[in-house]
Amino acid sequence: MLTETPAEIGFVEVAPENWIGVGGARRRALDQILERYPLVCHGLSLNIGGPTPLDHDFLKALKHFLDRNDVRIYTEHLSFCGDTGQLYDLMPIPFTEEAVHYVAQRIRQVQDVLGRRIGMENVSTYALPQGELSEVDFLNAVLEEADCGYHLDINNIFVNAMNHGFDPYEYLAAIPAERILYAHIAGHYEEAPDLRIDTHGEDVLPEVWAMLDDAYARYGVFPTLLERDFNIPPLDTLRREIAMILEAQKRAENADEHVA
Ligand SMILES: [Fe+2]
Repeated sequence: MLTETPAEIGFVEVAPENWIGVGGARRRALDQILERYPLVCHGLSLNIGGPTPLDHDFLKALKHFLDRNDVRIYTEHLSFCGDTGQLYDLMPIPFTEEAVHYVAQRIRQVQDVLGRRIGMENVSTYALPQGELSEVDFLNAVLEEADCGYHLDINNIFVNAMNHGFDPYEYLAAIPAERILYAHIAGHYEEAPDLRIDTHGEDVLPEVWAMLDDAYARYGVFPTLLERDFNIPPLDTLRREIAMILEAQKRAENADEHVA
């Protein structure tokens, strides 16, 4: 538990699934954190691309949680993670026109129930089902048809570029920029030059930091979370990486002032 309030931290992110219905000491601990920081929610089990109907009981509980905790940003993965059961992996949706319509109408349903605009995140993939569109064209088509926000994951673009052989900067130039709500940056594991695993268990690579600079320079700054799920280093190391995000934001803002 945090016993101090590091100045580098501007907000905290939780998976709402881990907190819905939680009370007692754990909830009191979360409340203490929320006295100091705004809350962003990034979900795990919406299963937006899955074949089964959306879980409306879950959506109602989620709405209650988002309202009760004054959550301004809620995002999910543009993927599927279950059929009748729940997987702990984020599976790729086929990049087809049919899937664009299917996923977009499900996002609209979610936004209707939650009474707010949500953000969808581009995910890492290792093998792709057959499709007609590129990943970034699929992303643009879904977000446009659903009229939802975009959760930009910089590391996932880099991982996919290495795994599938495309230029990450071309992707970055083609994202639905006016829809960006929020971003993630993370480290990943290099199994081979063309097989990167999105582990969130390593330091962020210099190439991925460079992409964050490019994204801020192109589109301005937006709230950005450092994802670190295991191999957790000492807090000072994490604080240094968070400080690097803030430095990148300052660089972009200063460059903007020079242009103006
Ligand atoms: Fe992410």
